[in-house]
Amino acid sequence: MSWTGAGCALAILLSLTMVPTNLEAKTTKTQVTKAPFGRDTDGTPVDIYTLDDGTIQARIMTYGGVIVSLKTPDREGKMADIVLGLDSLDGYEGKVPYFGALIGRYANRIAHGEFKLDGKTYTLPKNDGDNTLHGGTRGFDKVVWKAEEIANGIQLTHVSPDGDQGFPGTLTAVVRYTLVGNALRIDYSATTDKDTVVNLTNHSYFNLAGQGTGDILKQEMKINASQYTPVNANLIPTGKLAPVAGTPFDFRKLTPIGERINADNEQLRLGKGYDHNWVLDKPAGKMGLAAEAYDPGSGRVLQVFTTQPGIQFYTGNFLDGTITGKDGKVYGHRFAFCLETQHFPDTPNQPSFPTAELKPGQHYHQVTEFKFTAR
Ligand code: GLA
Repeated sequence: MSWTGAGCALAILLSLTMVPTNLEAKTTKTQVTKAPFGRDTDGTPVDIYTLDDGTIQARIMTYGGVIVSLKTPDREGKMADIVLGLDSLDGYEGKVPYFGALIGRYANRIAHGEFKLDGKTYTLPKNDGDNTLHGGTRGFDKVVWKAEEIANGIQLTHVSPDGDQGFPGTLTAVVRYTLVGNALRIDYSATTDKDTVVNLTNHSYFNLAGQGTGDILKQEMKINASQYTPVNANLIPTGKLAPVAGTPFDFRKLTPIGERINADNEQLRLGKGYDHNWVLDKPAGKMGLAAEAYDPGSGRVLQVFTTQPGIQFYTGNFLDGTITGKDGKVYGHRFAFCLETQHFPDTPNQPSFPTAELKPGQHYHQVTEFKFTAR
């Protein structure tokens, strides 16, 4: 072989070896690493995964599928952890208000801890006065999920046995967390072997200025909804869809969260602030923009895209300074907001709401993306 021939062969070899590397870089940009995070009180080992795409860094543990930390850049590129959370596993096993957790089988409230399906009444544990909240006393936030690494993230699986927390059917839930295009994407899937109801979400508490730095009242919110579901004194929807126009619930334009939060309004009194479900204007089942939050101080923007029909906007009204979170930060009143994409609260008892039923042979699939930019 001549030198030219050898050079040519080398060039071909180099280009061949480079092709797969380039492809890989395109399809799996996110680095995933795993570390032990202790054992729960049953002795089950818990792991924590770090997903890092060079811009966003998310740490997610197998207990409760909790997003423990989420670091994103501000307008200067300075990183901050923008979700509330705790330093160690044992805290999460105690009385913690669902920081970062996966919620199931049914996100938000079911009135009187019961519902009827196919003519049969199912009784659930009451853990919120007379209601069942976020799946019962041991919901999906209190179990250790099985994890595996996938392209750009992780997949978590939990099999909830028939009758778990009173719900019918064996429910196999699969949740994927991936970092794609400046976003933390969550894919929720589920199947059942009996007729049941399901409503899965994630309960992250965001503070775009950085966790534990203060309240979120000057941060701005936009919710793509012209209606919301007003509640009764137990925070159960009345069944009506009320227009937001002319009320403190109108977030169709970016508005500081605190601007009307203390307004003389019966619904705000009942919720002790915002703790309501908005009826999204985008077509249900289709991915669309649900909400956008902006922090004028840091420039951080959070956009929420979802396939779900509703979103619970909760302003941390129950936070009262009794929880000390990560890095010794004390979480005071309204130190964070939640944007929980969902089917409407109490749907199993509300025939006029979009159904939350899942039958054998059907595949539940909902997607939510939290997209982070800065301006
Ligand atoms: C949801 C509920 C709130 C509250 C929090 C957890 O957002 O709607 O009322 O229970 O979860 O504290």
